Amino acid sequence: MAKLPIITLPDPLLRETSKPIEHIDAQVLRLADDMLETMYGAPGIGLAAIQVGVPRRLVVLDCAGEDEAPDPRVLINPEILQLGSQKKVYEEGCLSIPDFRVDIERPAELRLRYLDRNGQLQEHDAGGLFATAIQHELDHLEGKLIIDFLSRLKRDMVVRKFKKLARQDGPL
Ligand code: NI
Repeated sequence: MAKLPIITLPDPLLRETSKPIEHIDAQVLRLADDMLETMYGAPGIGLAAIQVGVPRRLVVLDCAGEDEAPDPRVLINPEILQLGSQKKVYEEGCLSIPDFRVDIERPAELRLRYLDRNGQLQEHDAGGLFATAIQHELDHLEGKLIIDFLSRLKRDMVVRKFKKLARQDGPL
């Protein structure tokens, strides 16, 4: 396994829509393993393939608590089938927007369908932090970011700050 570089705001790739994975082959499974290692190393609880520059519908997550055993999940071509009517607010961060957090209200429960790493179709109900993390990561697959929940004025301020930081760092 290898840690991959995570792309950050304002990289335009983050705004791309990711395409479905057609074949779950060794390359896809290696990418999933590398994404898990990258996520744990960051550290974070979720990562979408686009965040390592790959515009494919692949997400890894681990929402286990600190005193729980690790619970790595690989979601291939995930889809939300249904959203609950109750809402919940979590303070969210994103590995592609370092040192930035924002309160976001999202449905508290959902029904999820995806292919697991063996190509088996899975359907699960999710709640709590897991439901929020799934919605956050699936937004990435549509090129949507947590700054899109801000007012335009505040969003522009955050983007400007990251553009300035990127200029200071210079080209990689
Ligand atoms: Ni994110």
